[in-house]
Amino acid sequence: MKNINKIVLSGVQPTGGLHIGNYLGAIKNFVSMQTEYDCFFCVVDLHAITVKQDPKLLKNNTYEVVATYLASGIDPTKSVIFNQSNVSSHSELAWIFNCITRMGWLNRMTQFKDKAGKDKENASSGLFIYPNLMAADILLYKATHVPVGDDQKQHLELTRDIAQKFNRDYECDSFFPIPEPIIDKNISRIMSLKNGELKMSKSDSSDYSRISLTDSADQIEKKIKKAKTADTSMPDNNEDVSKLFEVNNLLNIFSGFSGIDKLELIEKYKGQNFSNFKNSLTEVIIEHIKPISKEIDKLMNDKAYLNQIISSGAEKASEKANVTIKEVYDIIGFVRNET
Ligand code: TYM
Repeated sequence: MKNINKIVLSGVQPTGGLHIGNYLGAIKNFVSMQTEYDCFFCVVDLHAITVKQDPKLLKNNTYEVVATYLASGIDPTKSVIFNQSNVSSHSELAWIFNCITRMGWLNRMTQFKDKAGKDKENASSGLFIYPNLMAADILLYKATHVPVGDDQKQHLELTRDIAQKFNRDYECDSFFPIPEPIIDKNISRIMSLKNGELKMSKSDSSDYSRISLTDSADQIEKKIKKAKTADTSMPDNNEDVSKLFEVNNLLNIFSGFSGIDKLELIEKYKGQNFSNFKNSLTEVIIEHIKPISKEIDKLMNDKAYLNQIISSGAEKASEKANVTIKEVYDIIGFVRNET
């Protein structure tokens, strides 16, 4: 039974090659929340173009995120799956938030600094104001809960600040709810298989740093075999494990997929070298990824069905978004064409 006061919104960028970090850190949570919450899951194509995209690839990647949502278990009869650019009020509310957010707030965003790198002057202005669009995605649906990976935490904090400032500036107490991030402590930051201090990322130049949801069993086996561990054997306690970043990460992945508590895994593999552990980890990942990648493949060959999902999602999302944007325009004092 859904609680209509609990609304979830989250999104994934269609920038290709979704990996097990995206799955464990975000999508797996989307699936588990859909029975209890009113859920909106979008493909954030407007966010994707803050960095130059090839139009053909962007289209294909958009279909692939929709297919991944479905293949992972998001049920379109329970949740709304839609493409961000199909609902124009995301851009409209983002503009309003551009006028609410202070430059100082945006200047603190670490993801902009990471993504813009040294050549800040050459980054798009869209990349700088990206968090305002993300706040619009969330607040347009008056979402109360936002399942995300740890890297989005700061953007969520900014969203809360924007909601509070809007409510205060326009004296419309609690018009926008203050959304709660839903971040699972252990699996909210899946790290690179090559370096346990770097986040697993689509943009890492080495394919061996990540496992993609569409990797074959062979590829998964090779990647886990090559994954960095430690010169010692598996420690017998969590404190020592947490000092071995790569081992800790593999244990989190194992636990995330299998549901087995990390301490139980440490107990099972303590004192052993890592080959047994890696074989079991490979099996667990394949067991979970295989049905998903098979279904993604099938769905990618059925664009008519994917188009149907996108179109009915746009309709349902617009229905809710249009109400909020009209309320916002009234609050702000915009005169609307009523004819
Ligand atoms: P994106 O597309 O980079 O990633 C999608 C989701 O995957 C999570 N994630 C990870 N989780 C654990 N370990 C990792 N290594 C890892 N890498 C990625 C991300 O935290 C995210 O939850 N700005 C967002 C998309 C967005 C959004 C929103 C999210 C736009 N509007 C509104 C929530 C609500 C992004 O770029 O995610």
